[in-house]
Amino acid sequence: MHVSDTEPLKTTPSSQSQPPADQQTSLHATPESLLSLEHLPNGLAILTLGQTQESAIALSERRLKELSTVFSQLHQQPPIGLIIQGNRPEMFTVGVDLFAIRHLTDPQEGVRLAQLGQHVFDLLATLPCPTVAAISGPCVGGGFEMALACKIRLCSDHRSTLIGLPEIKLGIIPGFGGCQRLPRLIGVTKALDIILAGKTLGAKQAFAAGLVNEIVATHHLKTRAESLALQKANVKPSGLSIKERFLTYTALGRRIVKNATEKMIEKKVGAYYPAPSRALSIIMTGLDSGHAAGQAHEAQAIGELITTPESQALVRIFFLTEEAKSIGKGAESDVREMNGIVIGAGVMGEGIAETFARKGLSVTLKDINATAIANAKNNTTNRIRKSSSLSSSEQEGILDKYTFTAEEAFPISTNNFVIEAVVENLSVKAQVLNALSARLPATTIFASNTSSLSINAMAETIADPSRFIGMHFFNPVAKMPLVEIIRGKATSEKTIVITAALARKLGKVPIVVEDVPGFLINRILSPYLNCAAMLFEKGYSVQLIDGAAVSFGFPMGPLRLLDEIGHDVASHVSVIMEEAYGARMKSSNISQTLVRAKALGKKSKLGIYNYSANVAAPRGDIREVLGFSTTAAAAPMTQQKVAEALLLSMVQEAVRCLDEGVAGQPSANAAGQIDLGTVMGIGFPAFRGGILSYASVLTASAIKNKLLFLREEFASPLFDVPVGIESRSVSGKSFAEPI
Ligand code: NAI
Repeated sequence: MHVSDTEPLKTTPSSQSQPPADQQTSLHATPESLLSLEHLPNGLAILTLGQTQESAIALSERRLKELSTVFSQLHQQPPIGLIIQGNRPEMFTVGVDLFAIRHLTDPQEGVRLAQLGQHVFDLLATLPCPTVAAISGPCVGGGFEMALACKIRLCSDHRSTLIGLPEIKLGIIPGFGGCQRLPRLIGVTKALDIILAGKTLGAKQAFAAGLVNEIVATHHLKTRAESLALQKANVKPSGLSIKERFLTYTALGRRIVKNATEKMIEKKVGAYYPAPSRALSIIMTGLDSGHAAGQAHEAQAIGELITTPESQALVRIFFLTEEAKSIGKGAESDVREMNGIVIGAGVMGEGIAETFARKGLSVTLKDINATAIANAKNNTTNRIRKSSSLSSSEQEGILDKYTFTAEEAFPISTNNFVIEAVVENLSVKAQVLNALSARLPATTIFASNTSSLSINAMAETIADPSRFIGMHFFNPVAKMPLVEIIRGKATSEKTIVITAALARKLGKVPIVVEDVPGFLINRILSPYLNCAAMLFEKGYSVQLIDGAAVSFGFPMGPLRLLDEIGHDVASHVSVIMEEAYGARMKSSNISQTLVRAKALGKKSKLGIYNYSANVAAPRGDIREVLGFSTTAAAAPMTQQKVAEALLLSMVQEAVRCLDEGVAGQPSANAAGQIDLGTVMGIGFPAFRGGILSYASVLTASAIKNKLLFLREEFASPLFDVPVGIESRSVSGKSFAEPI
């Protein structure tokens, strides 16, 4: 039976006239129905979200309408209790259907959708019977707002259980009553912590944060939910601490919270992300003036926010991320029990090995140098034991996944994936990989984390190049979500797919790129860093240059980023880039000079900035150290002009990469991959959609004119106009695809 607004569901009443035990009545409607409602002989109603074959259960408008029909009918004939569940242990609901909202242009459509969700969950919240959300798998966004409208939330300890409100990350707010119900459940400060950060938590953390009343073993979820819905058992009553009650339910308390949160938002996200301030004001309205007033503001805000370019850019990045994750589709079972063999226990090897262990995969970390291994073991053990989000048994579980060794003949198990992260030297890398390949089965994949050597050149030294690939993690590995997968000429498709699946298993977002110097990310990043150095050399201040990038939305400025990368690494990369691409990649000598002065950047507490105090500050003596003129000779430049120069230096290289086919699987969304790569790998502001989206907004002819102007102003080939910009300035085409 298809359920629609006009066609009420025919449910079998349970509480008043229960069917005999052998006649369980199911309302599993026709295959088109997106829900099923089953009445049990004991009087309980079980509402299952989604059909059995649905992989991700989203709250589409149609499903919300079906829910509305079900809840209205349950109001008329209430069951003894209601349990809401997903269609399998891995799925409750992923929240609102983003496909439906991604292209919304009319704010009123957003308002209407929010009002529908609010109406449906108000119906659920006012049912005159126990209501239990039996959560297993993702229960996020609108899905969690539905769970919040239940009287009891129970979750399974299933590894895929994930609970929270990530809407802020899409530039919107929880708009189905979540901004009203969560503060009342856990108190305003904890609710703000979840909503403003867009947090999603695993089962244990969700329980600790008060989002659910209980966690149970997955196989007990159903029986426990039934006992609670039948009121044969009770959950421990939850309540707010005196402090939380004061902060949530008194005008003075709320004022204190509001003032502190406003300052925090200002400091952390600035003006570019309007959603956090809106969420704060809506939460306060709800607590000041009641649920209905709060929800009215929620709906209004959804309409306004959902149609902003910022939100649409964030939703696009979300979809691009999902697309990138799907590169490894089909190889999930190949990597499920994979053992990592990471060679080289330096900065990168240590970080890469930890991603294996933290994701439950065994890993051998091997170094030629016994001291390097001892240090890596020590650092790793300390870091994991200090990890407050892990219980002590989880910490031990992670540490048990490790084998640290300096032995050449270390024990080897089956199903291995090798990643070499030894020194950046072709012959050392080749020797390491060949020695290992002699010991490992002929199916093993070998990856290199090289940042500057050619994958094709390395492949020539490898027995079976079809199983050889580049897997470029970024530093610091734990924080950087991107992994570049570099396809060599001989790399097989199977090797690419398994490597992408492994990247995903390790919690990373893979993009596939070609084997060109700098690959994709360093190639686009280099001109940006070179431009910053050039402006600095011409007399513009660190504050102006870095301030321009931060005002644009980058997490830090390019000169600070150079310090983070390390001037030793930066000068090494810049030599390779200039050799490969010529004058337009010529860098200044800043990094080389700082290396000679032993000021490597953050790691030596001194670079362009000084890191010895709590807050890093640009060094007062930096011009003298670099031998630059101390009197600024440069013509005045606004922050906006500086930002434009930095960004256009990056745009011209990104357009070359697009047109040369450096990014993306063949025929895949290359522009999208470049946008995603710049957001995940460079920190390009996500709300601007990535470098090529930014370029498309500017238009090719405006970019060409600005580049010509900058070229003349600075006499620098950094601003040469590439063919792809020249031709698009004539054709009017955007940067959405290669030419
Ligand atoms: P590192 O110098 O910190 O560590 C290299 C380690 O390799 C040392 O512990 C050394 O003892 C070990 N090693 C040298 N020869 C070995 C051999 N024959 N067998 C086993 N171990 C050996 O270097 P880092 O920074 O970790 O870089 C490693 C690789 O990762 C390089 O290819 C580098 O280009 C790449 N990379 C580095 C990034 C960074 O920011 N540091 C970022 C991305 C990639």
